[in-house]
Amino acid sequence: MKGNITFTMIKPDATGKNLTGKILSMITEAGFTIRALKMTRLSKEQAEGFYAVHKDKPFFNDLVKFMTSGPVVAAILEKENAVESFRALIGATNPANAAEGTIRKLYASSVQENAVHGSDSDENAQIEASYFFSNLERF
Ligand code: CMP
Repeated sequence: MKGNITFTMIKPDATGKNLTGKILSMITEAGFTIRALKMTRLSKEQAEGFYAVHKDKPFFNDLVKFMTSGPVVAAILEKENAVESFRALIGATNPANAAEGTIRKLYASSVQENAVHGSDSDENAQIEASYFFSNLERF
C-alpha cells in the first residue's frame, strides 16, 4: 500500500526569493495537508546528514554549501499516495526537464537550486520526517 506522508523542504534559493508563501499555497491547493512545519537553517553537519546518500557524488560539497546558505522551510505533508503525488507537483529535479505548471518549472533556477525537496520513497519520507521533527511537532 502507498503511504500517505511525504517530506518537503523549501530550499534557500526559494526562501531567499520570498517564495515560501506561494509554494505552501500551491501545496495546499493541490490537496496536501500540512502535518508539521518549521523554518530553520541547517548546520553543515545537518545538511551532510540529510544528504548522506549523495556523499560520493561530485555535487555533494556544493549541495551542502547551498543548503546551508540560508533558511529552509521543512514540512510533513499528508495526502493519498503522497510521495508520488508530491513529486508530480514539484516536477523533475532539473527544472529544464520539469513539466509546465510544476513548482520547479515555475521557481527553480538550476538542477542544484531547484526550490524544493521531495522524498523519493515512503521509506525515505519517514526517515526524513523524523530527521526534522519530533513526535511533539507532528500533528
Ligand atoms: P533533491 O531532490 O533535494 O535531492 C538531492 C539534491 O541534489 C537535488 O534535489 C539537487 O538540489 C541536487 N542535485 C541533484 N543532481 C544534481 C546535479 N547533477 N548537480 C548539482 N546538484 C544536483
